[in-house]
Amino acid sequence: MIEAKGLTKRYGTLTALDALTLNIGPGEVFGFIGPNGAGKSTTMKILACLLTPDAGSATVCGLDVASRGDDIRKVIGYMPDFLGVYDDLTVDEYLQFFAAAFRIERARRKVIVDQVLELTDLSAKKHALVDSLSRGMQQRLGVARVLIHDPKVLLLDEPASGLDPRARIEMRSLLVELGRMGKTLMVSSHILSELAEMCTSIGIIERGKLLYAGSIEDAYARTREAGGHRERIAVRLEEEGCGVREAAARLERDPRVARVVVDEPGRTLAVELNAGSHGHHFVIEALVSVGARIAAFQPEDVKLEDAFLKLTTGALQ
Ligand SMILES: Nc1ncnc2c1ncn2[C@@H]1O[C@H](COP(=O)(O)OP(=O)(O)OP(=O)(O)O)[C@@H](O)[C@H]1O
Ligand SMILES: [Mg+2]
Repeated sequence: MIEAKGLTKRYGTLTALDALTLNIGPGEVFGFIGPNGAGKSTTMKILACLLTPDAGSATVCGLDVASRGDDIRKVIGYMPDFLGVYDDLTVDEYLQFFAAAFRIERARRKVIVDQVLELTDLSAKKHALVDSLSRGMQQRLGVARVLIHDPKVLLLDEPASGLDPRARIEMRSLLVELGRMGKTLMVSSHILSELAEMCTSIGIIERGKLLYAGSIEDAYARTREAGGHRERIAVRLEEEGCGVREAAARLERDPRVARVVVDEPGRTLAVELNAGSHGHHFVIEALVSVGARIAAFQPEDVKLEDAFLKLTTGALQ
């Protein structure tokens, strides 16, 4: 549905996109993840035919972005990262305006606007001013707007950015619903966890390069294989008993322990275990064996996705 080959875009001396190749199949919900300045918006603007690449090519629904811009615009819905300001326009007027721009006949406009309002859960706000809506509602209105001409492909640039947790959940369920409707979605974010559960596949972009593309499951499997998934235990010792340095030295001798970070004044140890070192009872035994008295023992699961991000970032260095 979306194919990019060797896309390159330079701004002066800065290479914002560096030979980016990616493939998104029909019906996929593709999470496009990368930190600020990675090149997400640049890629999406090229796919939306708003920017011309310096090299490489791309097709959307089999149409070439270089020559079929007008046809592509009919089959895609592109939501930019910034909605714009619409003084004194109500939600209804705003959507009617875009329906007119898409040359939808006057008689059908009303029905379609009501449908997209329903889908984005904004029916109650139909006559409210756009500028009076909360950020979460404005973002959903942005989605409503790109749904008006019933596009097959949606390019949504950071639809969940700046939203509070509740608004983010609402946005996520809206995107899941669009996926269920059979639309192909490319959704960008700089936070993997924001998208992880709803995506069928993800791509990680950093400094203009695609570091990973594939399913979330493969990403996590790869992380586990690489030992990127580690368990960490926060330990605090009592004043009595052995000191934290001595305890750390004992733990560091164990091959199951990856590293130990000591905070002497706080009498705490952060013990990082190697992947596959099942259970952490041996840590307690080791501590007890050197006469440590344990005041607190708190295993923390290092998030798989954080580990995965570290892994892909490491690939660059
Ligand atoms: N019009 C422009 N002129 C000059 N440099 C630009 C322009 N647009 C983007 N850039 C630069 O290109 C790089 C990629 O930008 P882009 O907006 O594609 O990143 P992004 O992944 O969308 O980042 P963000 O998470 O901040 O939205 C950045 O270093 C940015 O500063
Ligand atoms: Mg951006």
